[in-house]
Amino acid sequence: MSLPSHVRLVEVGPRDGLQNEALPIAVADKVRLVDALSDAGLGYIEVGSFVSPKWVPQMAGSAEVFAQIRRKPGVTYGALAPNLRGFEDALAAGVKEVAVFAAASEAFSQRNINCSISESLERFAPIMSAARQHGISVRGYVSCVLGCPYEGNVAPEQVAAVARELYAMGCHEVSLGDTIGTGTAGDTRRLFEVVGAQVPREKLAGHFHDTYGQAIANIYASLLEGIQVFDSSIAGLGGCPYAKGASGNVASEDVVYLLEGLGIHTGIDLSRLIDAGRQISQVLGRASGSRVAKVRDAS
Ligand code: HMG
Ligand code: MG
Repeated sequence: MSLPSHVRLVEVGPRDGLQNEALPIAVADKVRLVDALSDAGLGYIEVGSFVSPKWVPQMAGSAEVFAQIRRKPGVTYGALAPNLRGFEDALAAGVKEVAVFAAASEAFSQRNINCSISESLERFAPIMSAARQHGISVRGYVSCVLGCPYEGNVAPEQVAAVARELYAMGCHEVSLGDTIGTGTAGDTRRLFEVVGAQVPREKLAGHFHDTYGQAIANIYASLLEGIQVFDSSIAGLGGCPYAKGASGNVASEDVVYLLEGLGIHTGIDLSRLIDAGRQISQVLGRASGSRVAKVRDAS
């Protein structure tokens, strides 16, 4: 299969990247990050989560972040909503696209959202109908698509079953998450072959954490499978609070560098993206997780 000419990036740094940070990050710093990301040309930014603050304290200020960002026309500012309560809070904050999140492994579903996979899908049904009523689009996530921190191997057929349910209930796109970053390029190709038989490939996205350093290879493998949407995180920030040892998502800067090298258009300005990553790395007081940013900053 030939490579796509355009790829869309979903920037998840302000949500997936920051949700795992132990120390509180000021709303102003989160707002500055989101605005810097839209200035760099990102068309989709996942800004926060409307989840229980007891479960993920760092996301508690998401409504304030939404109130203060400079919304650029044409940019989608998304947020996670695990239940109707989260959806209503998101709606009140002016969110136009929410994401529901399920897992392909029962144990992870219990640890992450305190219910079984089928209960989670039932919980999403009222979100889908409320979203339709209010003209809100819904994205779906499936976690643990290439392995689970509690159960180990996860069959692609199990991922396909959950992805198909999310698509059938009205998610316009389903993002497949390698939550613990153990997957290889071979696993990734097989995953999209199996899931792609149940959900159209143009409705699927790849979400790769880089724990084992395989994320860039997995994105390339996904491109070969016709996938054109990838989630990535500025400066490689992140991890999941319910997946111990999970490192950040693949760094947005590194993905843009890969895609530019392949002649694939993203509409993103790499230097401005690196600036955005430098800024948030300074706030967090640590070096960027992006290989490209590290080299550019050193030269
Ligand atoms: P629960 O305890 O089963 O829910 O949690 P509950 O309905 O019994 O409510 C318990 C308390 O939470 C109550 O408060 C509710 O009001 C409150 P209390 O009476 O104890 O004071 N509550 C809420 N508060 C704010 N917003 C809400 C909300 N809902 C209930 N929406 C629940 C169930 C789903 C709420 C909880 O498990 C939760 O919030 N989990 C969030 C987990 C999370 O955010 N994980 C990280 C994101 S997923 C991820 O990172 C993976 C991804 O990146 C893809 C990948 O990498 O694989 C997407
Ligand atoms: Mg994630």
